[in-house]
Amino acid sequence: MSATFAAPRFTDPAVFGRVAVLMGGTSSEREVSLDSGRNVLEALQSRGVDAFAVDGIPALVDAIRAGTVDRVFNILHGNKGGGEDGVLQGLCEALGVPVTGSGVLGSSLSMDKIRTKQVWLSLGLPTPRYVRLAKGADVHDAARGIGLPLIIKPSCEGSSVGVSRVHDEAGLDEAVALAARYPGEMLMEQLVVGDELTVAVLADGAGHRALPSIRIVPKGEWYDYNAKYVAEDTQYLCPGLDGAAEDEIRRIALAAFEAAGCSGWGRVDVMRDRATGDFFLLEVNTAPGMTSHSLVPKAAREVGIGFEELCWRVLEAGMDRPGDGGARA
Ligand SMILES: Nc1ncnc2c1ncn2[C@@H]1O[C@H](COP(=O)(O)OP(=O)(O)O)[C@@H](O)[C@H]1O
Ligand SMILES: [Mg+2]
Repeated sequence: MSATFAAPRFTDPAVFGRVAVLMGGTSSEREVSLDSGRNVLEALQSRGVDAFAVDGIPALVDAIRAGTVDRVFNILHGNKGGGEDGVLQGLCEALGVPVTGSGVLGSSLSMDKIRTKQVWLSLGLPTPRYVRLAKGADVHDAARGIGLPLIIKPSCEGSSVGVSRVHDEAGLDEAVALAARYPGEMLMEQLVVGDELTVAVLADGAGHRALPSIRIVPKGEWYDYNAKYVAEDTQYLCPGLDGAAEDEIRRIALAAFEAAGCSGWGRVDVMRDRATGDFFLLEVNTAPGMTSHSLVPKAAREVGIGFEELCWRVLEAGMDRPGDGGARA
């Protein structure tokens, strides 16, 4: 599959005006966001963009009110005012300030794993079998429907927070108790035994294109918080697959991204069943990490797009937001 992107549309950094790089915030992913944000800020500035850092949404509102913001590069991670759940996007929309990445719909839908799966299933896109766990539901009964082993996770968290793998009935109650610590609903999913992959999607001209997949090979049993942010021995292979399988995962990931109403850029998490080779979509991340460990920059590099150019392209995509029907710049 060809992965040649059209040349960037703009060459003059002045077209972007004053760019607030929105980072930090109050979510549990604050530190990761600050790390991402500093990298984005430095990249934009070195390309001559008039970019400055803003920590959190209240400070952004102040800066917009003061008339110092022409557009926002959003690199907040997480929900609950974390900037990834549609609230920021609605605020910016209402104030008439363009923001990078998905709009209100794509952001808020993607933050809700249950509802994202409902959309995918309605379109015939593959995602692990699941049940929604209402508070007080009979989890043992639900587990008989899904079958062991299974996964229990909060519907609206990130970074593998609150996610448990359950191999026997005895582990069910503890897993539910862990997921229930987080606000919102929970889901129980069929555990896909196999490879963990992720596919970045980036705007390209009037549409979007999937970047080469990345196969994540954690040293431990699975890709938990530690493997994501702490361990140095997680391996990342890019492209993660070859031939028809690589074409297929990119096709499914792009379809999943578009089905969720996402735009600009993002990253789709996918599992591949070891026995059958079948793919299963897990979730879309609408403001993925941009740290030195992060995956979107790795995938972009594979097609010759360096970190600075990646930031430029994300900003450029925010000029007219292809795909979400929300053109406004
Ligand atoms: N159905 C599943 N089968 C196998 N592993 C899963 C499944 N769901 C989640 N996982 C594991 O848990 C991790 C986190 O799950 P994910 O749905 O991507 O949520 P988040 O990254 O938002 O915490 C995944 O990266 C994967 O390692
Ligand atoms: Mg994930």
